[in-house]
Amino acid sequence: MTQPITFVVLSTGLDNFKDIRKALSAEGRVQLLAGGNDPDQLYEEIVRLKPNAAIIALGPNPETAVNFIQRLNKECPKTAIISAAADASPDLILRSLRAGAREFLRIPISVDELRTVLDRISDYCNAQVETPKKKGRMVAVFSSKGGCGTSFIATNLAACVANRSILIDLNLQAGDLPLFLGVDPKYSIADVVEKRARLDDALINTLVTPYSSQLSLLAAPKSADSADEIEPQHVFEVLQRLRESFDYVVLDPQHTFDSITLAALDQSDEIVLVLTLDIPAIRSTQRALEIFDRLGYPRKKIRIVVNRWSKQIDLDLRQVEKFLGEPVVGFVPSDYQTAVNSINLGTPLVQSDPTSKIALEIRRIAQTLSAGVLPLEDPKPRRAFWSTFLKRQPAEPKFELKASMEKA
Ligand SMILES: Nc1ncnc2c1ncn2[C@@H]1O[C@H](COP(=O)(O)OP(=O)(O)O)[C@@H](O)[C@H]1O
Ligand SMILES: [Mg+2]
Repeated sequence: MTQPITFVVLSTGLDNFKDIRKALSAEGRVQLLAGGNDPDQLYEEIVRLKPNAAIIALGPNPETAVNFIQRLNKECPKTAIISAAADASPDLILRSLRAGAREFLRIPISVDELRTVLDRISDYCNAQVETPKKKGRMVAVFSSKGGCGTSFIATNLAACVANRSILIDLNLQAGDLPLFLGVDPKYSIADVVEKRARLDDALINTLVTPYSSQLSLLAAPKSADSADEIEPQHVFEVLQRLRESFDYVVLDPQHTFDSITLAALDQSDEIVLVLTLDIPAIRSTQRALEIFDRLGYPRKKIRIVVNRWSKQIDLDLRQVEKFLGEPVVGFVPSDYQTAVNSINLGTPLVQSDPTSKIALEIRRIAQTLSAGVLPLEDPKPRRAFWSTFLKRQPAEPKFELKASMEKA
């Protein structure tokens, strides 16, 4: 390892700290980033600085130190923990190792012992240098106003893709995506967050709810209490991990700019910004675009889609686009019966009624989003019985919107 091994030190006694610091500074390959006697403060530093290793002096209050080792081992598994003590009993050393310490150092620290420990930590760090991870494409379907159809569109976009995709319900207090897929999830994002330090593909597969061989759902928590415990940082980490396991990640965030929504929007490759063509929704879309500008999102990350589009809408589309300063890239027709039927059936419309105008337009939007990145699933006409009674026409939206925004 050519980079220095970075350290933080938790030590209750000043003498211990001085001894540890002196021993570390004699080693050229070590960089001490932070030290202190307050576990909570040091924990914040470890989360922020992500050191390779932490020395935890067991000190006069070994109970606190062992608990801290346990916490670090769970929450920051990439930081190698070294317990250290002047006169530790074999029992205490064993407890520290069981709590998650990889090594033990006697204080005062001997040069030889430190070298041996550093060699092993260095091997551990080298093993941590990962090959670049696969990163699935992440799309957030967002509207700053509820009821515009974001959950409906998100579900159908996720169901279009031929590769492994996951739909994630970030409406933590009141998620309703299981209804859209007709599933009854056993686990939720709260379980994934709780187990985030040891998520591997096998564990992820047990925590998500399969809908088909391609599509899975990560549901919102059933109880509001477990939702309250989820921090934005947890969501960020979990999303990062999930995009390593899935080719396509579709997010259905809340309709507010809370910090969990921002954690989701920040790391999305694209944001499908959904609106309906009414004045409150247009205004709220314009405000959302202003916020995205302030957040530094490039405009090419944003794709504006009109939902519930109909010829009867008395607004001039060009005026709307001018007002928003962005083109509208998709028009999902309004067809309440067809949309509601698919939700009642618990099957995405792109599958239950793939030749409906709504399904065709959502597939077209999915194609533009994943252009050159992901193949779409072959539409398998699995029509619901009522669809055979409906006369179908090729989806070709005509945008003859009449009155101007100013007039409205
Ligand atoms: N294109 C559409 N045409 C008609 N009704 C729609 C359309 N898209 C969604 N809906 C209906 O609008 C309602 C709200 O949709 P939903 O996706 O839950 O909104 P949001 O998640 O934005 O609050 C649902 O009953 C859905 O059936
Ligand atoms: Mg919704």
